Amino acid sequence: MNAAISRALALILIFAWIGACAAPGPRATESTIAGGLVAADHPLAAEAGAEMLSAGGNAVDAAVATSLALSVVRPDACGIGGGGFMLIRLNDDPRHGDVTIAINYRETCPAGIGPETYAEWNDPEASRRGARAVAVPGTIAGLMHALERYGTLDRETVFAPAIRIAEGGFEADEHHIRTAHSLMGYFDDDTTRRDRFPVVWNRLMLRGEIEVGDRVHLPEQARALQLIAEHGADAFYRGPIADAIVASVRADGGVLTHDDLASYEIQETEPVLHAVGRFRLLAMPPPSSGGVAVAQILDLADRLDLTIPATGWPAPDTAHGIAEAMKHAFADRARHMADPAFHDVPVETMLAEPALARTAGAIGESLDQGQTGTPESYGIAAPPVTDAGTSHISVIDRYGNAVACTETINLAFGSLVAVEGFGFCLNNQMDDFTTIPGQANAFGLIQSDANLPEPGKRPLSSMSPTIVLDEQGEVIATAGASGGPRIITSTAQVLLRGLQGNATAHQAVSAPRIHHQWLPNRLDFEPPESDPLAQAMRERGHDTGTRERIGAVQAIFRDPATGNLDGAADPRKGGGVARAER
Ligand code: GLY
Repeated sequence: MNAAISRALALILIFAWIGACAAPGPRATESTIAGGLVAADHPLAAEAGAEMLSAGGNAVDAAVATSLALSVVRPDACGIGGGGFMLIRLNDDPRHGDVTIAINYRETCPAGIGPETYAEWNDPEASRRGARAVAVPGTIAGLMHALERYGTLDRETVFAPAIRIAEGGFEADEHHIRTAHSLMGYFDDDTTRRDRFPVVWNRLMLRGEIEVGDRVHLPEQARALQLIAEHGADAFYRGPIADAIVASVRADGGVLTHDDLASYEIQETEPVLHAVGRFRLLAMPPPSSGGVAVAQILDLADRLDLTIPATGWPAPDTAHGIAEAMKHAFADRARHMADPAFHDVPVETMLAEPALARTAGAIGESLDQGQTGTPESYGIAAPPVTDAGTSHISVIDRYGNAVACTETINLAFGSLVAVEGFGFCLNNQMDDFTTIPGQANAFGLIQSDANLPEPGKRPLSSMSPTIVLDEQGEVIATAGASGGPRIITSTAQVLLRGLQGNATAHQAVSAPRIHHQWLPNRLDFEPPESDPLAQAMRERGHDTGTRERIGAVQAIFRDPATGNLDGAADPRKGGGVARAER
């Protein structure tokens, strides 16, 4: 059979399968055949990306423009003072052919901080707020690399929407207000913090009085973006912005230097590739822990036939089995995960048949016994160590190219230190290291000594940008989330609902979620808590709790037979989906 006929037959089979899966209801909440779709956790950012698609750009151009706009409109979550991960899948690109790559632009530890530094500083706040929490930002290096190598539009075009929004201002939305309110106690407890972090207090919180609809203007950030648009990444890492970053960090007692900035380098690597049933997952390798963990959870769900419906809560045994898969994945995370440039991370072994079969066997026993285990029974050798500061972008363009990009400044408004004269917040990513051995980080995560800070090292992350391919290599889904450790569990549940339950993107993203991260040993439910399900879980030995929001996911599903796109931004964070005009 010649290749064209076999491909046509394969597409007919996939189409028939998808058609069967899609019955009885329509699949699309937002669909377009020709143009492309961007899902981001702020509508203005999604529109910035769609503007690039309408201008003839590809998924990479759209993701970069979306990220730059998010730097302005989600200053609590991500931005040019932070870092991130980007997965790119391009089909038959004229310059590179088929492309499947992962760009790691996670922040790095400054040269002046080592494994003992936080213990020596003896200040529990040092890794969370203020300049000692700041790691070397990677976002601009990552975005400029992606744009120059895989994008098609020029910097001026791609930066234009973000600069326009920063100059013209934007309305504070509910998410912004919720985040600002969450910091009120911090600023009230010690009012000197208002002078120490003036941009966050005066500009982004309007001295504690910000309300929905108030306009936020960031003309200083527009200047920074304009300089980078004109001069490229050097303006940030060597030029006037670098001078201002170092001065602002030093003024608040931090250690980041010009050398730290000038020596920052992105890493371009191959994604983790893992087959689950008929799907192939492309996921972020370490220092993301999320790529392996999402692959583990989806694989175990597939092996154990744990089928999660399109909407509503799963059946008790399914919820128990998925919670067990989460517990195993997070115990593995604590035991094995760190920056692979500094420590061996056994990704292949963790995703190999013997390990997954063994874990599936253990979960099968737990299902038979109807009981969860103690934390120690999840295979950890020895105990090693709030959604706001992260944002996820999903893009699929008219060619079926896809980008999954998750970026972060860690906690709300990062370190709270803003760069003098340029008005953007610097990250507090140092808290994602094991800063004090044996102690949990701000997300309650216990992490190993392999994740201790060392100069140039990248902290472990939960960010889980994911692209799913069908057997022919066509993109059928892209997803990812914000929410600290809940990134992993929310991304996995949305993909399970979409791939197994045939949910529309809106159904998959909106449905209620559970979360377990092994330690603390508690299974959380989103309200409205399903009392019968929570009771059924307690009967299986789980401690249960509720959590207002478990992650915020942006997902796009694609029908490879028609090219139809179905995207959703998480209503938990007030995001938006925007489509290209052509
Ligand atoms: N800062 C959140 C994460 O990278 O997991």
